[in-house]
Amino acid sequence: MNVYEAVTSRRAVRGFTDRDVPREMLERVLSAAAWSPSGSNLQPWNTYVVTGAPLAELKKRAGKRLAARDAWDEREYEMYPAELKSPYRERRSAFGHERYSSLGIEREDWEARQRAASANWDCFGAPAALFCYIDRNLGAAQWVDVGMYLQTVMLLLRAEGLHSCPQMAWSVYRKTVAEVLSPPEEHILFCGMSIGYEDVKERYIRTGRAPLNETVTFVDGELQPHATRHARDLARGGLRSPGHEPTHPVCLAARDRQRTPCRYLSVGDIEPAYTSCGVRHSCHGGPRNEGQSSLHRNLQRVAKGP
Ligand SMILES: Cc1cc2nc3c(=O)[nH]c(=O)nc-3n(C[C@H](O)[C@H](O)[C@H](O)COP(=O)(O)O)c2cc1C
Repeated sequence: MNVYEAVTSRRAVRGFTDRDVPREMLERVLSAAAWSPSGSNLQPWNTYVVTGAPLAELKKRAGKRLAARDAWDEREYEMYPAELKSPYRERRSAFGHERYSSLGIEREDWEARQRAASANWDCFGAPAALFCYIDRNLGAAQWVDVGMYLQTVMLLLRAEGLHSCPQMAWSVYRKTVAEVLSPPEEHILFCGMSIGYEDVKERYIRTGRAPLNETVTFVDGELQPHATRHARDLARGGLRSPGHEPTHPVCLAARDRQRTPCRYLSVGDIEPAYTSCGVRHSCHGGPRNEGQSSLHRNLQRVAKGP
């Protein structure tokens, strides 16, 4: 498996079989992941790998709290700002739609959404999990280091034929996790991660991604005098903002490119592909994925023109 394959086949898997994950595999993955970069080589990750009886115990304790509708532990870090601004608000809502429509759950069905979310604390059936802690006096840059490390872990798991799901959800039951792991007082639980073999019966819709021109700006000599206009276009929501006509040449070109019909827009494309409109997206069809990703549908809409 090459790096592109590892990156594009990794996704948050939320259904695992009970097939055991060999300890040697996990050691191999975590030894290689230790080569992740970090500022001044601080290596600020502190990882606990949990399997067997301790994991069963943790799931049992978390399940009890869930059943008792126990209050969540007070936060040690904010998962998201209280007010999510655009475009993050729209992306979160698109994710919620993708996630719950794949399970046949209506947006208003709060109970069903809660039931689906509760699988987090059973590690979605996975037989292995890791929990990653960071020292509480380290700063934002070290949290980023931990993120890079965790992504490295997830890619290496793919190379071993394994899947994963990173889970901040565990931080709301951090005291229960601490009962089982006894981490040092000065450590904050950032997230858990379920690890195992995918249960291919589990339905999912591949999450979409924002078009490249929404998150990436190529700056070359020619464009620099216009950088401010471009930034303003992006701040107004770029091409997605209804009624906003872009002014910057890059934005105008991107808009025109998007109006070009895209030759990959057919249901059932399996492999991620660069579309002729310049956007990398991945569309999965076939029996495990009824429907298309919202990105796919958006692209179709864009391709049809205004
Ligand atoms: C730091 C982090 C925490 C996450 N926490 C959860 C979680 O608690 N539960 C969950 O089901 N997914 C969680 N996810 C998975 C994201 O929802 C998922 O990565 C995102 O929607 C993109 O989908 P994909 O990973 O399948 O491409 C988390 C992802 C990250 C990076």
